[in-house]
This record gives sequence, structure tokens and C-alpha cells, in this order.
Amino acid sequence: MSKTYRLGFFLNKNVLALQGLELVIEPGQIFGLLGPNGAGKSTTIKILMNLVRPSSGTVRIFGTEAAKREARSQVGFLPENPMPYEYLSGEEFVRLAGKLLGLSGQALDTRVKEVIGAVEMSNAAKLQVRRYSKGMVQRIALAQALINKPRLLILDEPTSGLDPLGRRLMRDIILEQRSQGTTVLFCTHIISDAETLCDRLAVLVAGKKVQEGKVSELLSSQVPVLEVAVEGLSKEQLSSVGVNHELKQEISERLWVRVTDQDLQAFIGATQRLQGRVTRIQPIRFTLEDLFMNALQQAETKVGGTFS
Ligand SMILES: Nc1ncnc2c1ncn2[C@@H]1O[C@H](COP(=O)(O)OP(=O)(O)OP(=O)(O)O)[C@@H](O)[C@H]1O
Ligand SMILES: [Mg+2]
Repeated sequence: MSKTYRLGFFLNKNVLALQGLELVIEPGQIFGLLGPNGAGKSTTIKILMNLVRPSSGTVRIFGTEAAKREARSQVGFLPENPMPYEYLSGEEFVRLAGKLLGLSGQALDTRVKEVIGAVEMSNAAKLQVRRYSKGMVQRIALAQALINKPRLLILDEPTSGLDPLGRRLMRDIILEQRSQGTTVLFCTHIISDAETLCDRLAVLVAGKKVQEGKVSELLSSQVPVLEVAVEGLSKEQLSSVGVNHELKQEISERLWVRVTDQDLQAFIGATQRLQGRVTRIQPIRFTLEDLFMNALQQAETKVGGTFS
């Protein structure tokens, strides 16, 4: 699907927020959407929630068009900047969300207690939302998203505003939801959250999908690289070795250089011919961060959107 926002007095300026994005999220998975600011993550989620219409393409939730009400009755949603009614208490807000989704009576009472307990907000449940801290609002908004035992949980930056304990709790809740069979889609720019939580991940840059796969596959698809310490060579001499390499750091007399597995022998030979010594070799474990940075560099993007 694609999404173009129209801006300007004559609606003559276009922001290409999403460009030909295709995503399939298997039931029962935790699917992460990773991307920098302005990549189109929230736009994707808003299209799923029917808050924004795609300019082209269609979106289905468990086979039903996302624009239909039935589709969304199975979804729990935590928006990017949750804004619960300020004068309600946290508990009243969660109760209202439950009522709007058709719960009532004893079932509603029990479920409200359960979800408030799950986000560890029982002590503050009677307090008005306007007295909450940012993290407390985030927690109560999550309780609201869980109230109808959704089959699909959609979370826009779920850990934003949370302290380390809150982040741990959010991760535990997401994992717990998966173990109950819930499908989870969340977006983030926090790489460690994506790395620890996702079964599958798509990297979005400037409205386009640049990578997709299982986290382990994405990481193992990287070319093996070694970090090599070279001594006895100047930077100028190093640049003349004639073997592909990348200078990463210079620490006193030692130059730290990255070379691929394939080029290692040739690199060692070349440095020795120049009277240099290779004093240490260590493999690099690629992290999602490297992958993310590479994807960003390749896309050569600017924050602020792609215009046409
Ligand atoms: N209502 C709107 N009107 C015009 N442009 C918009 C609107 N909403 C989003 N955009 C633009 O669409 C692009 C994608 O925005 P989006 O909010 O989807 O990004 P995001 O990936 O969620 O970023 P962040 O990490 O900052 O939340 C941006 O260039 C943004 O300026
Ligand atoms: Mg966003």
C-alpha cells in the first residue's frame, strides 16, 4: 500500500509517507516495525486502525478489511501519544474502554481489575489521569488496549516514556500475550527492544521497506567481518596496502581495521610486506544496530520525509 499526505493551501505538496509497502504478519507472532523518525511506522499503524486512509492498496486484519468495524473489534491499540480523558481516573478510563467494546457487569469488573493489575497500576487506579506521569499514562493506555482480550495487539512505541522497570514489564506483557496466542505488531526505533522481542522484523526507511526477515536470519545474512589490530604502520601506509579494509579507530600506536573473512590473509600479507604487524584478530558479532545503520546509509535518507 502507499500513503501520500497532501499539504499546503492548495493541497499541492505531497509527502510520500509510504511507498508500495507490503507486509504479511503471521498469526501468533511478534512482528516489529523498526525505523527512524518519520519512516512511516505510525502511518502504517494508523492505516491498520482506519485512522488514516491509504492512498492506494488494501489492508486486511484476519481476512477482514481493516476499514470494517468487525476487523477492529479484535484489535487492542496503544497509540503513539495516548491521551486518555484527563478528568477520569485510570480505572474509570479503562472501564469506559471496556464498555465501548461491549463488556458489562461482573465480566467488566473482573477484567478491569485484571488488566490494571497486569500493568501494575492498582495503587494509582483511583487517581485522575491528569495527575499521572508520562509512564503511568502509558501503562493505563496499555491496560485499555488489553481490555477486550484482543487477538491482535498493535503498539506504537510501547516503551516510550517508561523507566527500566516499566520497559521490562512492557516486554513481559508482550511475551505473555504471545504465549496466549495473541499476534503482536509493534513499532519502535529502540533497537534492543526489537532484538529481544521480535520473531520477525521489517526495517522501514523513508516509507519503504528495506529489510525484512527473522531477526536471527537478518543478522546471520551479514558478511562475516573481523577486526584486526595493526601496529608499526602509519595511516598513510595502511591506505596503500591495496586490500579492501575500513579503518575504525586509532588507539595510541594501534590501528583497528575491519576486513572481511575473505580478505584477511591478503591483508595480513600486505601489512607484513610494509613492515607492519597484525597483533590481534577478533570476529565482530553483528548487532541489529549495525544492520539498521547500514540500511539507513544505503537509503541515504533525510528526516522530514520524501516529497514529490
Ligand atoms: N497528518 C499528516 N500530515 C502530513 N504529513 C504527515 C502526517 N502524518 C505524518 N506525516 C508525514 O509522514 C511521514 C511519516 O510519518 P510517521 O508519523 O508515520 O513516522 P514514524 O515512523 O511513526 O516516525 P516517529 O518515529 O517519529 O514516530 C513523515 O514525513 C511525516 O512528516
Ligand atoms: Mg511514530
